[in-house]
Formats: sequence, C-alpha cells, structure tokens
Amino acid sequence: MRTFKDRYYLALKQVSKIANSTLSLRKIFDSIAKNITKAMQANGCCVFLLDHKKEYLIIVGTYGLSDIYLRKGPLNAHKSLPEILAGKVVTVANASKDKRIQHPQVAEEQRVHSILGAPILREGEIIGEIRVYTREPRQFSKADIDFINSIADVNTVLIERAKLQQLLARRYKVSEKKAKLAQAPQSPTASLRPTEFVHPSEEQFAKLLDFYCIEWLYEPRSFPLRWENNTVVEMFTPDFYLPGLNLYIELTTLQQPLITTKNRKLRLLKELYPEINIKLLAKNDFFKLLAKYGYGPQGKAKIEGVNQVLYTHTQIQRRIRTLARHISHDYASSERLVLVGVLKGVVCFMTDLMQHLSLPVIIDFMSISYYGGGDSQVVKITKDIDSSITGQHVLMIEDIVDTGMTLNYILSHFSAQNPASLRVCTLLDKRARRLANISLDYVGFEIPDEFVVGYGLDYKGEYRNLPFIGILQPELFKESKPQ
Ligand code: IMP
Repeated sequence: MRTFKDRYYLALKQVSKIANSTLSLRKIFDSIAKNITKAMQANGCCVFLLDHKKEYLIIVGTYGLSDIYLRKGPLNAHKSLPEILAGKVVTVANASKDKRIQHPQVAEEQRVHSILGAPILREGEIIGEIRVYTREPRQFSKADIDFINSIADVNTVLIERAKLQQLLARRYKVSEKKAKLAQAPQSPTASLRPTEFVHPSEEQFAKLLDFYCIEWLYEPRSFPLRWENNTVVEMFTPDFYLPGLNLYIELTTLQQPLITTKNRKLRLLKELYPEINIKLLAKNDFFKLLAKYGYGPQGKAKIEGVNQVLYTHTQIQRRIRTLARHISHDYASSERLVLVGVLKGVVCFMTDLMQHLSLPVIIDFMSISYYGGGDSQVVKITKDIDSSITGQHVLMIEDIVDTGMTLNYILSHFSAQNPASLRVCTLLDKRARRLANISLDYVGFEIPDEFVVGYGLDYKGEYRNLPFIGILQPELFKESKPQ
C-alpha cells in the first residue's frame, strides 16, 4: 500500500516526464489533472486559466469529471471562489450547500462534495487555478495543500516555457510544424482547440475567427432544455462561444429539416436562459456580424495574401481617439498646429486623427521617393509642403516608422526651417528594426517585425483600402518601400 508521500512523489515524477515529452499544453494539463486526481485519491480535477480580461476561468485540462459538469460553462472568476483571485488556497466542504459555488445543482447531480482550489501564480499575479473534486466529504490536509501548490508552480513554468517557444518560433522561424505547436498556447482558448470538428463548416468558421483574431471556444457549454424525472433528456450545445463579444454562435446548414429543429431548440433556449446572447448564423451572415462589431464592411472573403488581422477597425479608432486627446491636451495653449502627413500611407490615419483634435489645425502633405536599392537607397522629396512652417508648431504624422531612416531625413529637412516645435506622431512603430536614433512623441501601436498592410499601408500599391491592419504573408514580399 502506497503512502500519500509515495503517491505525491510519483505524481510529481510523472508530471515532469510528460512536461518534458510534449509541447501541447492541452495534453500536459490533462495529464496533470489525471496525476493529481490519482495521487490525491480524489474523483476529478480541473486546470483553469484566466481569460485575458481576468473575468472567466477557462478549462484547459481535466480528468474524471462528467461531460455535463465540464459543460456547465465558463466560470465567472469573481463569483467562483473569489479568494483564489486574492492568491489563497480554498477548501469547500460541501459544494451543493456552499454559496460560492455557481452551479450547486450541477454539483449535487454530479455528486461533487468537497473541493480544494489553489491559485496558479506568476510573479505574484493570478493566472489560473487548479481544482480538485471529491465525491466523499474530505478534510484537505496540509500535505494536500503543499502538493497542489507545488503542481501549480510547475504549471506556471510550463506556461512560461510555451511563451518562450512562441517567441523563439517567431524570431528564428523554426520549422512550420514546431512553430504551429509553439504558437498554440497564444491565448487561453488557443490551448483548448479541438483536434476535430464535427462539421467542415465549423473548421472553416474557426479559421475565419482566427483570421480576425476573435477569441473562440468550441462547444464550451451544453444547455439542458428538457427534463424527465429530474434527468436531462434534451440538451443544446451551441457550436461556438466568442468570449470577447459574449456571444454564442450556432452555424446553420442549408438543410431545411435541420434548420427547423435548430430554430425550435433556439426558441426554447432563449425562453429558459434569457440572459444568453446567441445567434444562428449562415456563412454570409458572419460578414454582416463582423461589420456590426466594427471589423469593417470589407470582410467578404479572406483577403488574398493577408495572413491575419493585427488591429481591427474598432481598435484603431479607439486608439486614435486616445492619441487625439493627448495631442489636444499637449497643444491646448498653442494658437494652432500644423499637421504634416507623408503621402500616401498616412491618408487614413491623418483624416481620422484630425477629426478628433479639439484645437485649430492646418494640414499639409509631402511626398517622397526612394532611389537605388539595398544599402545605397536614398530618400528624395518629390513634393514639399505648400506653406512655410517657420515659427509654427509642427506635428509630423506618419503611418509607420520602421528603420526610421525616412523620418530622420524628413525631420532634418524641417528642422532647418526653424519651426517653433517639431514633434512626431506615428500610428505604428516597428521598433525592432530601428536604425536611426529618433524620438517618437505619440505612438498608436508598437508592432512586431512583420510586414503590415491596410488602413492606408500598401504592398506594391495595393491593400490600402482594407479597413483593418493585417499581416502580409512573409513569402509574398521581400522588402517594400512606398509607391
Ligand atoms: P523607414 O524609413 O524604414 O522607417 O520606412 C518607412 C516607410 O517604409 C513607411 O513610411 C512605409 O511606407 C514603409 N514601410 C515600412 N514598413 C512597412 C510595413 O510593414 N508595411 C507597409 N509599409 C511599410
């Protein structure tokens, strides 16, 4: 007969082994849940990670729990054992009677009696939780708590490792397969991705969501619809849940009998769960939905050559309003401000930004060209600004600063004209590639070393009209300079 010390030692050994043998966080967390359950002689275990807003606990690994218990839905982190968010270990003696338990009837039906919960901490900050469940009443010992805390620490290390791998994959462009694995844990939901979808249209839909960087969970919750003798006899499981939009999505097919059944279930669901936001969606409706949620009207199809949306139209507009507030505040005592844009990439940014400035502005534009190639490339002004800036407060507006060579050249051109002040506002800052030592006064977004298009930015003159900023497939371009 093994003592609890033997069991705990064995579990730690097993966890280290699996952690070292696979890159899939999903597999590792499932194995951790299994080893904890066995070692503690419990009946089940869940590993949760907090979503990026720290509102919901999302299951990333489980063992021994029934489907119904797991599908009770994402847990609200503030309501469910809030002490965990304060970094404390929590014990629940009787789950069906404890006020902190969000789904006590499900706990009772599933015969969950006692619970031990431990926070997963990273540098003192809560990033998730491990929960152990028993069917019999259980008083958790100090050894139990020490054990689960040690496993929580191991989890943190694994998550850090996954992030590091993701970073390395980007930097050194490791083989595609490994890169995919390393990228998988990008967001809490990414590690929950199913290995298989029930229907190919769902896989397609998931790809679209990924393209638009919309976080998703596949079939995360089942809603009981009909009961007989206290037993659930009919359930409805929407295909997707989009945490960012707090929206469940059920995809429709074109087969009428299926649509009728789904409509009936949906009506029932809305009656029983009025707080649930759910939509029945055909593929074309998806693009209308995107437009409604601010992803811009141009989303009819995946844009050829663009891998992924980096910033949506809504995100860009929100950031521009903030930038405009700062600029208006900083220049509040100036009589007026001269905005100088460098054509053509700046058109979208400049027009949106100036509409939010609450001070008198005049605008001017300049154009530049690049001659030569490689190291000997030189910048030349092909159209200068129309009015004099001597004694004026000037704000240079740029779409993107990459090496900074262009801006460096333009700034020295303008400083020679003795403006009262000369500052720079850029929507995007690709700091990783900076060569010239210039200071940027207002920055919209700092972006990774990727070639981006849309919202005014082009590749060979195209893509400027996309309402979002997307990442261009690296294979498509070598090096691009403005047209
Ligand atoms: P820099 O002189 O290297 O800072 O280059 C600045 C110019 O290069 C910008 O004004 C853009 O026109 C172009 N550029 C640099 N990176 C990108 C990109 O990711 N997408 C589109 N244009 C870019």
